[in-house]
Amino acid sequence: MNEFIQRLSRMRANETIRSMVRETILSVDDLIQPVFIHHGENVRNEISSMPGQFQWSVDKSIDYVKSLQDCGIKAILLFGIPEKKDPQGTDTWNDKNGIIQNALRALREAVPGMLLITDVCFCEYTDHGHCGLLIERNGEYVLDHDTTLNNLALQAVSHAKAGADMVAPSGMIDGGVGVIRESLDEQGFSHVPIMAYSAKYASNFYGPFRDAAQGSPQFGDRKSYQMDFANSHEAMREIDVDVSENADLVMVKPALSYMDIIYRAKESFKMPTVAYNVSGEYAMVKAAAEKGWLDEEKIVQEIFTSLKRAGADLIISYHAEMAYKFLK
Ligand code: PBG
Repeated sequence: MNEFIQRLSRMRANETIRSMVRETILSVDDLIQPVFIHHGENVRNEISSMPGQFQWSVDKSIDYVKSLQDCGIKAILLFGIPEKKDPQGTDTWNDKNGIIQNALRALREAVPGMLLITDVCFCEYTDHGHCGLLIERNGEYVLDHDTTLNNLALQAVSHAKAGADMVAPSGMIDGGVGVIRESLDEQGFSHVPIMAYSAKYASNFYGPFRDAAQGSPQFGDRKSYQMDFANSHEAMREIDVDVSENADLVMVKPALSYMDIIYRAKESFKMPTVAYNVSGEYAMVKAAAEKGWLDEEKIVQEIFTSLKRAGADLIISYHAEMAYKFLK
């Protein structure tokens, strides 16, 4: 009598059959864990707005990164908190003693096999907290894309010299990817890929990160260089530009409120696509889990799987280190 009923539930009857028809499979290979490197020695500061995440001095970071490797994590994204900030962020290209350069050398030696990606930006290194050089225009200080390019190239090359496997420019500086590519190529690093933060929005979800990396703008905001969260066609133009400048991977950031952008990016460009599940997204899950309102592991599994389903190939997340718990 029910000959017209389409029984899609037949394929959901039990876990065996569900696992056979599952369309999206998450793997630890897809995950990248951010790591904050703090100046000094013997530092392990918990970040108050990101419980379970720490700032590590180089010496202390080694055991932590080894523990990530033990959890199956293959790649980390390094952020630095230098001892001294200045208007240009000169620590970023200090070959001898820059915070990231020191971390790269130590981790390269102590944790072989771990893929070391560096965030290439200035906000954690400048005393004004903006992502590049400032100039005065009509009585206001604004970020100057053109003069920032030279420093961006210096930073990326210095990271590559110190052993970075991949560089990730995150400042939304016009022309940044192209200039970094050219400089890396000229200086013998044509093999180092660029993960471009292509569609990076001026987002309120970065709040906790600014505690973690101590890189808040000292005045104003980042709306004149990061994207307006109301826009999506513009994100496709940003990605198009970065692809034309030879980006190897493109990123959408943040992740959860931006799944439409991830989907469009993958559909349009077929590039290796990265979703950055940012600090505020981590903090929301943590807070609810601490209250006992959500099951953290199950929520993280669902978030990661849905980001992949939307089109992300790789996911950067502070929760990456937890994935081994459900990826067996
Ligand atoms: C630096 C940078 C930021 C993040 C990654 N790289 C902060 C910002 O743009 O203000 C945010 C990461 C996060 O919130 O997890 N430009």
